[in-house]
Amino acid sequence: MATAAEEGAGPGAGGPGGKGSAAAGGPRGKKKGKRGRGKPGAGPKSRPPLPEGAVKRLGGHGEASRMPQKKYFRQRAHCNPLSDGCFDVPAGPAAMDWRQHFPDEALGEVKFVDLGCGFGGLLVKLGELYPGKCSLGMEIRDKVSAYVMERVKALRAENPGRYRNIACLRTNSMKYFVNYFRKGQLEKIFIMFPDPHFKTKNHVRRIVSINLLTEYAYLLAPGGVVYTMTDVEELGEWMRDKLERHPWFEEYTEREYADDLVIPYLTETSEEGQKVARNGGKTHMSVFRRRAALR
Ligand SMILES: C[S@@+](CC[C@H](N)C(=O)[O-])C[C@H]1O[C@@H](n2cnc3c(N)ncnc32)[C@H](O)[C@@H]1O
Repeated sequence: MATAAEEGAGPGAGGPGGKGSAAAGGPRGKKKGKRGRGKPGAGPKSRPPLPEGAVKRLGGHGEASRMPQKKYFRQRAHCNPLSDGCFDVPAGPAAMDWRQHFPDEALGEVKFVDLGCGFGGLLVKLGELYPGKCSLGMEIRDKVSAYVMERVKALRAENPGRYRNIACLRTNSMKYFVNYFRKGQLEKIFIMFPDPHFKTKNHVRRIVSINLLTEYAYLLAPGGVVYTMTDVEELGEWMRDKLERHPWFEEYTEREYADDLVIPYLTETSEEGQKVARNGGKTHMSVFRRRAALR
C-alpha cells in the first residue's frame, strides 16, 4: 500500500513532467550551505588511493589490467538514500561529460541503467549482451562503486576494444536520477534486489514508489522497460503494486517475458541473485513497459 506522501504527489498530481514530480522542476541541483553537500556541475572528486593489494595483477597486461578484489571493497550493506551524501552531481544532463566514462562517441548516449548496481555483475553482462548500447551502473556506496569502476578498467585492459560500453557512477539515484538523463533517453532500467527497508517507517527509502516511478516514466522512452526483482516476497508485491497502479506502466505480456533476451540473466549475473540462487531462495520479478500514452 502506498504511503500518504506517495498518494499525495503521485501521478494524479502530475504524471511525468507534471507538477509534483522531480521531472517537473527540471534537474535537481544541490542545496548549498551544509558540510558534505556536493555542488552541481562540480568536477569529479579525487578518491583516496586504493589499499595495498586491493587489485590483483593479471598476467602480462601491465598495471592497468588489475582485477579488483572484493574483500577490499566491502562496505556496510545498507545506507540511507534520504540523507545528503557527498556527491558531485551535474546541474543537468547537458553538464555531464560522458566521454570520461564512455570513451567511444560512436556508441552514443546511455540507454540502459542498473540502479543500485552493487558489485556490477549484471552491468558486465549487459555490456556483453548489448555491445552497441551504453549501460550505466549507479551505486550509492563509495567502496562498492569504486570496485565496479576498477572492475570495468580491468576488463577493458584485459579485453582490448570490449567493455567500453559500460561504466559506473557513484550517486544517489533516488535523489539525482533526473540530473543525468534527458526526458525519454533511456530504454531499460534495472532494479535488481533493491534494499528492502523492512520497517514501515523506512518504506520511504524504497527505490520503487509512485513518485519515483513517475521519474522513471519521464526518463524512459515510450516502450522502455523497468525490470524489478527481489527475493523478499513483501517487497516484490510492493513493487508490483506500484507498477500496476502507475498509469504510465503496463506489464509485459507472457510472450514478452518469454522473448526478452536479458531475463534469463537477471538472477544468475547479479551478485545478490547468485546468493539467492545458492541458498535456494525464490525470486519475484515484475517487468513493465512504459506506455506511449496514458490510457
Ligand atoms: C541489495 S544490493 C543489490 C545489488 C545488485 N543490484 C545485485 O543484484 O547484486 C542493493 C544496492 O543498491 C544500492 N543502493 C541503494 N540505494 C541506492 C540509491 N539511492 N542510489 C544508488 N544505489 C543505491 C546499495 O548500495 C546496494 O549496493
